Amino acid sequence: MILSIESSCDDSSIAITEIKTKKLIFHKKISQAVEHSKYGGVIPELASRLHTEALPKILDEVKEFFPKLKAVAVTTQPGLVVTLLEGVTMAKALSISLKIPFISVNHLKGHIFSLFIEKDSTLPILVLLVSGGHTQLIEVESWDKFQVIASTLDDSLGESFDKVSKMLGLGYPGGEIIENLAKDGDEEKYKLPIPLAQSPKMAFSYSGLKNAVRLEIEKGDKKDLQFQKDISASFQNSATKHITQKLKKYLKKSNKKFEYLGVVGGVSANQYIRNELEKTILPFQMKLLAPKLEFCSDNGAMIGRYAVELFNQNIFTDLSQVEIKSRAKLI
Ligand code: KG4
Ligand code: ZN
Repeated sequence: MILSIESSCDDSSIAITEIKTKKLIFHKKISQAVEHSKYGGVIPELASRLHTEALPKILDEVKEFFPKLKAVAVTTQPGLVVTLLEGVTMAKALSISLKIPFISVNHLKGHIFSLFIEKDSTLPILVLLVSGGHTQLIEVESWDKFQVIASTLDDSLGESFDKVSKMLGLGYPGGEIIENLAKDGDEEKYKLPIPLAQSPKMAFSYSGLKNAVRLEIEKGDKKDLQFQKDISASFQNSATKHITQKLKKYLKKSNKKFEYLGVVGGVSANQYIRNELEKTILPFQMKLLAPKLEFCSDNGAMIGRYAVELFNQNIFTDLSQVEIKSRAKLI
């Protein structure tokens, strides 16, 4: 079994995965969303302190599995350095005391492999990674070969959901709040721009749309529930059209054929976006693959699932070579 730890942002999570069967033996996550909510975003030092409380609490529950562990895996990058350090310190201590190898996991690869928790992977696959930190379209050729087709030029999709919620005076994280409000809103009410609609660039951008939403909110009454619903629906509509337009453009041009589009990351929990993606890929004979809702946002299970790939290739990290990084690319 592999014990895996995730602490790259505001979720403390530990999982135990059986290597041979990829079965998830244990998985627990303690989210800090409530604590950060009053600040409208994640406060790194507060997050770090909360990890020091939550991680040992979860670890206590899995002690019975210690004799069966063959490796310990942890997110080392990308993420907030002060919070990554909490998980990495715990993983190093376990590696030393249990005499098991240490596996460094890239958080983004973990998100991609959230598609294959308790399953064999179906590769190659086209993946849309939409989280609080990233918005990328990626061709995943094999377990270790990733080609980024498009990235955001500025903000991420998740961040823009959070920002719209904040501008309306609502909570953090904003994704689910905005999705729920949008259900009863008029998505045509406010004419918001679809980012890069006229540009041939394969890239994403959310800063302009965010600004357009800000101008509408300044004109309206943000306390009015119907106003909140219409703004949310109009924003979600433009934000999603931006993704589907670029995706369609790629699918029309590319000579590579994929059976599946995988959608991963916190925003992949959004049912409206899932539906729109499904409609977009249908004419291209593609099917949508998405993680179970509990594995969309940050979690230890996806880190354990990618760690199984690394374990099977004997890819371990010497404790003196562990690199913690706030930014990291997919290669
Ligand atoms: O993957 P994740 O947990 O953390 C990062 O690695 O960034 O993603 C968190 C992001 C937040 O911005 C949150 O608002 C967004 O995912 N999110 C959603 C939904 N649920 C979470 N965005 C849109 N709709 C949702 N239902
Ligand atoms: Zn994440």
